Amino acid sequence: MCGIVGYIGPRNVKDVVVGGLAKLEYRGYDSAGVAALADGNIRIVKAVGRLSNLEEKLAEMPISGHIAIGHTRWATHGKPSDENAHPHQDCSGRFAIVHNGIVENYLSLREELMALGHEFRSETDTEVVAHLIEEMYNGDLFETMIAVGKRIRGAYALVVMAKDHPDEIVAVRRASPMIIGLGEKENFVASDIPAILEYTRDIYVMEDGEMAVLRRDGVECFTMDGEPVKKDVYHVTWDAVSAERGGYPHFMLKEIHEQPRAVRDTLRGRVSDDLSRVELPELGLQDEDIQAIDRIHIVACGTSWHAGLVGKAAIEAFARIPVNVEIASEYRYSDPIVTDRTLVIAITQSGETADTLAAMREMKKRGVRVVAITNVVGSSAAREADSTIITWAGPEIAVASTKAYTTQLVALYLLAVRFGLSRGTLAEEKAREVLAALDDLPQVVEQVLDTAPQIESFAKRYKDAHDTFFIGRGIDYAVSLEGALKLKEISYIHAEAYAAGELKHGTLALITDGVPVIALAMQPELYEKTLSNIVEVKARGAFVLGLTWVGNEDLEKTVDEVIYLPKTMPLLAPVAAVIPLQLLAYYAAVARGNDVDKPRNLAKSVTVE
Ligand code: F6R
Repeated sequence: MCGIVGYIGPRNVKDVVVGGLAKLEYRGYDSAGVAALADGNIRIVKAVGRLSNLEEKLAEMPISGHIAIGHTRWATHGKPSDENAHPHQDCSGRFAIVHNGIVENYLSLREELMALGHEFRSETDTEVVAHLIEEMYNGDLFETMIAVGKRIRGAYALVVMAKDHPDEIVAVRRASPMIIGLGEKENFVASDIPAILEYTRDIYVMEDGEMAVLRRDGVECFTMDGEPVKKDVYHVTWDAVSAERGGYPHFMLKEIHEQPRAVRDTLRGRVSDDLSRVELPELGLQDEDIQAIDRIHIVACGTSWHAGLVGKAAIEAFARIPVNVEIASEYRYSDPIVTDRTLVIAITQSGETADTLAAMREMKKRGVRVVAITNVVGSSAAREADSTIITWAGPEIAVASTKAYTTQLVALYLLAVRFGLSRGTLAEEKAREVLAALDDLPQVVEQVLDTAPQIESFAKRYKDAHDTFFIGRGIDYAVSLEGALKLKEISYIHAEAYAAGELKHGTLALITDGVPVIALAMQPELYEKTLSNIVEVKARGAFVLGLTWVGNEDLEKTVDEVIYLPKTMPLLAPVAAVIPLQLLAYYAAVARGNDVDKPRNLAKSVTVE
C-alpha cells in the first residue's frame, strides 16, 4: 500500500504534492519522492524514510513547475532505499511514474526489457512500467498507456507524466484505489481523498479498469480500451480529520472494513487461474524440501499467535505435519526440540516484535529454517527469515490488530494447501475446493460486515458487563481467544475464552444470571457438542449471543440472539467469525468512551522482551 498524488495547475507544486503526501503517510512511509516538470525537464527528488526527510532535501533542492507527481512508499519489491523510492523513470528520463500496487508479471517484463537494452536502477516492479512506456511510446502518452495497460498484470494505480507533454498527466487504475480532484483551472489525482481535500471537495472516484487524462482545464475519463466514460461528481462532505480515516470515526473501524480488500490482495497472484495450485515462489521451498519437513513450530505473540492456532489446524488437516503453536516469549527459553527437519513459521504483523525476533534468531542459530509471515516488507523479521510471505493488509494503524489477523489466516491456508499438494496428502480435487472457497472469501467478508448494526446494538446493551465469556470448540475456540483478546484490549471489559467442553471443569462457576456468553458454533461436525455446552451456560442464566452459519436456525431455540454468517468451508470459517468479534470489541469500546485506536498501556509494535 503506497500513496500517490499528482497535480496540474498554477499553485506551488511542492506544497500541493508534499502536503498531499503528508495526508497519505498512513499508507506507508518507507520513502517518499516527487517529480516536477519545469522548463522542459523532469526534476526528481527522493528520500528514504519519512516525508520529513524528503522535505529537508527539498529545502536544499527546490522544485518548481505546474505539473508534478509524488509518492509515499510502503515497500513491496525491494527494500526501502533512495533507489527504490518513486518516482521511477525510463532510460531516457522522458517519463516519470508513481505506482501503488503490484505488477505481478514484472520479472518476465524486466527480462524482456533488459534484453532490449533497458537499464534498471531499482529493484522495484514499478520501474518496468517506466521502461515499458519508453519502449511502447508512439508520441501519444494516452494511447501509449492503453497499450502498456494490456501488457501489465496485477493491481495498480499509476500516474504518469512526460517531458513532451507538459500539459497532461495520465492516470490508470486497476484494483488499487484512486480518486481525481476537480478544481478551477487545476486538477488533482490521489490514492485517497484527504490528499486533496484542502483544495477541492468535488471528486471522481475512479473505478476498476478506468483511466483519466488530467489537464489544467479539465479531466477526461476512459475505459482501459480508451472508450470515454461519463463520471458523476461526488461532493465530499466529511471534515479533514475523518477523511484521513476514510470517513470512519476510527482507524480500527476503517481497518475492519478494509478486510475484503486485504484478503483479496493477500490472495492475489498466489492461486493459479484454474484454482488448482498455490503459487508461493517466495517460499523458496521445493517439493522435496516440503516432503522432508517432519514437524512445524509456529511462533508468534498475541493476535498473531491466535492466527497460528488456526494455521495449525489447516496444516495438520491438509499436510498431515504435526504443528506446535508456541508463544514466542516462552518458546525461546523452553529449549525446544528441533532437528534439521523442523520448520519454524514466525508470524508477526509488524515484523519487529522483540519476542518473536528473539525466537527466530535462536532457531536460526540452531540451523533451523525459518519462514516469516509478516505485513511489513523490509521489517527485521522479513530480513532475517530464510524466506518471507507478505500479508498485503496494508499499514495497520490501530493498535488492535484486525486486518493483519485475517490476512495471516489467508497466508497460512495458502501454505497449508501448498504443503498438502507437495506431500500428496491433499487430493487435487480437495485442493481445488479449498482454493475456490478461499477465492470466495472477500465476498464472504463483505457480507459479514453487514452484521455491524446488530453487533452495535448488542455492544451498547452489554457495555457495562464485568465479565464476558467466549466459547467454541476446535478452531472456533481459537477464534474465541482472539475475540476475548480484542474485547479486553480496547473495551477493558474482562473476557475469557474457553474451549466449550472445558467449562464444566471449573469456569462454569463464574456463569451467573445475565453474564454475556458469546458462543461460536461455526463447525457443523462439532455443532451438537457445542450446543450441549451452550445449554449448560443457559441453564446457569447466561445471556448467550450465538454465531453460526446461515441456515442453521436450530441455534435460535437455545440462545438469546443469533448472528448468522455466510456458510463457507468450516476450516475457513475463522475469517468470517472473527469479524463480528472485532466489531463487538470496537462498539463496546466506543460505547464506554475509550480511546479505541490507542488503548491504554499498549503499543502497536512491542519491541521489548
Ligand atoms: C492485539 C495485537 C497484539 C499483537 C502482538 C504481536 O490486537 O495487535 O496482540 O498481535 O503484539 O504483534 P506482531 O504481530 O506485530 O508481532
